Amino acid sequence: MAEFTLPKNSKIKPGKHFPAKNAKKPRTFRVYRWSPDDGENPRMDSYEVDMESCGPMVLDALLKIKNEIDPTLTLRRSCREGICGSCAMNIDGTNTLACTMASADCASGDVKIYPLPHMPVVKDLVPDLSHFYAQFASIKPWLRTQSPAPDRERLQSPEERKKIDGLYECILCACCSTSCPSYWWNGDKYLGPAILLQAYRWIVDSRDEVTGERLDDLEDPFKLYRCHTIMNCTRTCPKGLNPAKAIAEIKKLMVERRSA
Ligand code: SF4
Ligand code: SF4
Ligand code: FES
Repeated sequence: MAEFTLPKNSKIKPGKHFPAKNAKKPRTFRVYRWSPDDGENPRMDSYEVDMESCGPMVLDALLKIKNEIDPTLTLRRSCREGICGSCAMNIDGTNTLACTMASADCASGDVKIYPLPHMPVVKDLVPDLSHFYAQFASIKPWLRTQSPAPDRERLQSPEERKKIDGLYECILCACCSTSCPSYWWNGDKYLGPAILLQAYRWIVDSRDEVTGERLDDLEDPFKLYRCHTIMNCTRTCPKGLNPAKAIAEIKKLMVERRSA
């Protein structure tokens, strides 16, 4: 029988506990901690937060921890309203945005918080998204045209514009890609749901004039066809988008042009 052992330094150890003093409404947040600087294993620190004096979102709790309890906690955030995608992390077992996830909506008991899964960690809750962004750049995510530039904007009919609804709203938070088992195992070559949704956004844009070239670029056993319609991506998207459907639409276009 095959035996699997994790490398020693990947084992998560129990961490420090920070009790709250005189808290009226204490709630414990258990947070993944790892630093590249001390050679230590990752650990789970637990922080008691007084919810009576804390904002409603998990991001509020994390910032309260950082500001009032433990300034060494490292996380990424910017807009605090679900627009920038930088606070994506695994909360209560789901990849989501800390700024739009209410602490009250986490299952009762301790709130467990990890960085996005299956990504290298820079520090604590900050994943290294360099490869993800390089994959995004590889699909050339901008309007590409061949016809001479008109004197004014390139127009779209309301129907043409409607085709990018459910796509343009993607904030590239990577929640979907990092929930996708195919991306976990083949992320070096498989583009994953976020990048494929973005690719489809340009494929269906009526103003883009290199659709054939875009499809050629995706016609590859790994880049597109590693999606096995497991649907984790669509289930987890904090913006309510449907990357699995976008991937299915690309596959449909591939079939249509082959039989054309
Ligand atoms: S539907 Fe495709 S992209 Fe989405 S989680 Fe499943 S395999 Fe990954
Ligand atoms: S499709 Fe949703 S989960 Fe995926 S990157 Fe875009 S906003 Fe995030
Ligand atoms: S801080 Fe921008 S999406 Fe959460």
